[in-house]
Amino acid sequence: MSSDPSIDWPELERRALAVRLNAHAPYSSYQVGAALLCRSGRVFLGCNVENASYGLSLCAERSAVAHMIAAGDKDPVAIVIATRGPTAGSPCGMCRQVLAEFALDLPVRLIVDGLPSATRDTSLAVLLPDAFRRDSL
Ligand code: THU
Repeated sequence: MSSDPSIDWPELERRALAVRLNAHAPYSSYQVGAALLCRSGRVFLGCNVENASYGLSLCAERSAVAHMIAAGDKDPVAIVIATRGPTAGSPCGMCRQVLAEFALDLPVRLIVDGLPSATRDTSLAVLLPDAFRRDSL
């Protein structure tokens, strides 16, 4: 799942942890950072952006996808998602679906700030089997 040697996981982890600190999460106090690596080698970052109208909150993963698309890239090959502990947070259903628009299977690493033992490696295909995609339309 996360064994591709061309992926610099430590660098993606560092970027996800760093951008997590920029999260705007005054309501939940749950900061999330995401680093999305594309085949081009570019890395797009995202963090959650909450709102006083709670339902308008944007997740870190979808923020990273928006940055990717705005930059003209659309071929993600790996994502690292950073949260607080004790358990690494798994992406919500909406973010899984949004990621599935751009990658059938994507290696996903979930990490916790300051707790390397909490790292979990998984993939989008495991997190969202049988995704609804454009070939269904
Ligand atoms: N959150 C994310 O950024 N990504 C997810 O996949 C799950 C949840 C954010 C949304 C909200 O700002 C906070 O975490 C608590 O739900």
